[in-house]
Amino acid sequence: MNTSEVLCATGVDLFYGETPAVRNVDLFLRRGEVAAITGQSGSGKSSLLYCLAGVLPVACGEVRFEGRDLGELDDEELSALRRERFGFVFQYGELLPELTVEENAALPLRLAGQRKAEALAAAGEVLGRLGLAELRQRRPSQVSGGQSQRIAVARALVHRPAVVFADEPTGSLDSANAAAVLDEFLSLARSQGTAVVLVTHDTQVASRADSRYVMRDGILSALTREEAT
Ligand SMILES: Nc1ncnc2c1ncn2[C@@H]1O[C@H](COP(=O)(O)OP(=O)(O)OP(=O)(O)O)[C@@H](O)[C@H]1O
Ligand SMILES: [Mg+2]
Repeated sequence: MNTSEVLCATGVDLFYGETPAVRNVDLFLRRGEVAAITGQSGSGKSSLLYCLAGVLPVACGEVRFEGRDLGELDDEELSALRRERFGFVFQYGELLPELTVEENAALPLRLAGQRKAEALAAAGEVLGRLGLAELRQRRPSQVSGGQSQRIAVARALVHRPAVVFADEPTGSLDSANAAAVLDEFLSLARSQGTAVVLVTHDTQVASRADSRYVMRDGILSALTREEAT
């Protein structure tokens, strides 16, 4: 294994019943790299993320994280890996309504067994870097859409994961707000060396990535520099 390589997928296939959703995909991600995947609705972008994150088992091929084949891990090892080394940001943020903003952001640390005071302090620091320090005690129902997405970003990065999987992380925001949240997300990820796999329909957003791919009918192709502009 190349030591700069964090995630490596080779020949990955995924089917829903008989229908292929991901076909023979190869993807290599270096430490700290931001990779953007664009493609039409239904082309298989989310399905590919599920394979890369070990959420769905692949039918064929393999996904290696730091050299370990996800297909060879048992359920417990796989959930520990997802919890501790991966972060996730979804389209609508999906915060837990009964927890405060800081408790939501601290969740990955609490799940990893960190004590409450320490987890909240670490969450407070990340929230502060995203301009959310004043919202710490609020509930998700008491913040705006853009703020919710920032809180989801804080939660995805608080435990300094190796890779964050982001599926249309700013899809619910207007374009100005989406650009701002995305800038903050990518700069925070870059500052802590977290690699990002970013699914987006927005080519403007994709242009901020280090590498770009397009998904068509389950097939992933890398975009060259010329194609990407
Ligand atoms: N659980 C499922 N069972 C059966 N088919 C599914 C399932 N999930 C997705 N599909 C199908 O697999 C294909 C790929 O879906 P996927 O959600 O990966 O696309 P996508 O590129 O993420 O689309 P979007 O941009 O709309 O989110 C689609 O044809 C979809 O209908
Ligand atoms: Mg999708």
